[in-house]
Amino acid sequence: MTDRKAFRASILHCLGDPGSDTEPDNIEYLEDGLLIVEDGHVAAIGNAQQMMPGLSADTEVTDYTGKLLVPGFIDCHVHFSQVDIIGSYGEQLLDWLERYAYPAEEAFADAEHARAVADFFLDELLKNGTTTALVFPTVHPPSVDAIFAAADKRGMRLVSGKVLMDENCPASLRDDPESAYTQSRELIEKWHGKNRLGYAITPRFAVTSSEAQLKAAGRLANEFPDVHVHTHLAEHLDEVELIAKQFPWSRSYFDVYEQLELVRERAVFAHCLHLDDTDRQRMAELGGAIAFCPTSNLFLGSGLFDLRAARDSGIRVGVGTDVGGGTSLNMFRTLGEAYKVLHLQEHSMPGFQALYLATLGAASALYLDDRIGNFTTGKEADFVVLDYDGSSITERRLKQARNIAEKLFALITLGDDRSIAATYLLGNRT
Ligand code: GUN
Ligand code: ZN
Repeated sequence: MTDRKAFRASILHCLGDPGSDTEPDNIEYLEDGLLIVEDGHVAAIGNAQQMMPGLSADTEVTDYTGKLLVPGFIDCHVHFSQVDIIGSYGEQLLDWLERYAYPAEEAFADAEHARAVADFFLDELLKNGTTTALVFPTVHPPSVDAIFAAADKRGMRLVSGKVLMDENCPASLRDDPESAYTQSRELIEKWHGKNRLGYAITPRFAVTSSEAQLKAAGRLANEFPDVHVHTHLAEHLDEVELIAKQFPWSRSYFDVYEQLELVRERAVFAHCLHLDDTDRQRMAELGGAIAFCPTSNLFLGSGLFDLRAARDSGIRVGVGTDVGGGTSLNMFRTLGEAYKVLHLQEHSMPGFQALYLATLGAASALYLDDRIGNFTTGKEADFVVLDYDGSSITERRLKQARNIAEKLFALITLGDDRSIAATYLLGNRT
């Protein structure tokens, strides 16, 4: 028997890239909309008044009139192992890793700790309207088991994979090229393609991997073309300088990954603040994607991401929170800071473009846009119900907004987890 549900609300989603100018394309907005979900997938959307009379008698209708329904948010880069050190004072990237991130990650040798943090982390994501994420765990295989099991239990679409790191980091966090390869392979076989889970080969960054380890990761990436690759790239100038010494044969930091066969479709690179035109051109040609992590780039003092150059080169871009370098798991907070990062460079980002970066654009960066990211028929029905009245300031400000573009932008600037009325996975409320 078909499980059929309908949701009445204002509905907004992207049909493609809305562009960054003031005349947006590819946006569908239904003031009085109806989303019909069958067996967890989108069956139809349209005008509620027109569609309601045609609903079969067994369809359960949930009325969210006055609220805004959008696709579930997608976080393209986040560390579940760093939730306990979010907002740690005073350091830039390399010192921050030594002082805060690595010590926090050492605790994930304990599987029980990993399971407890994974549960907390995924509940926080859902509370913030994030329904899919590309997640860094730690070097410990039990941390990978913990995040996948927790996502599977909740029915979440999630991509993750064991972190590979064998030098320039504490001995307690090191693997080696051989164990990196065999443990990743075992975890791919265990988790990849199970329900809504996908695997990502995850060398932390070129600073903490030997050339032999990156080669092993590249070999694995060739052997399993449908898994993701996930790493950091060109986040901080001190890091870029280290890479030039560590890989003297390389033309650039990006070139290290390209030469070692880690740049391809489904490869996602966090940050990318320091790329040149050749890097961008090659990234676009090879199908790699960028996770733009504004709160992290500001908090760690890394710099300003040039979204315009990435887009002009044709690179896929989604947003990431990068917690714990990032300061919030909330997508409004992340997009609000993205706007400011672009504004400082005299670039623009209207609300529709921001929505795209956290939904369909992010899905496209992860090569998951055939399944998630908007409400076209057949997609998985992951969505968020947004509350304009979540806080007294949004309630007041949104009364002044004259149209959906203004409402969305004000929500992005002022919203937080109070703006999330409900989160749904495959048509089920979480
Ligand atoms: N580069 C290598 N590891 C990390 C990390 O954990 N966080 C951030 N922001 N950058 C990194
Ligand atoms: Zn990161």
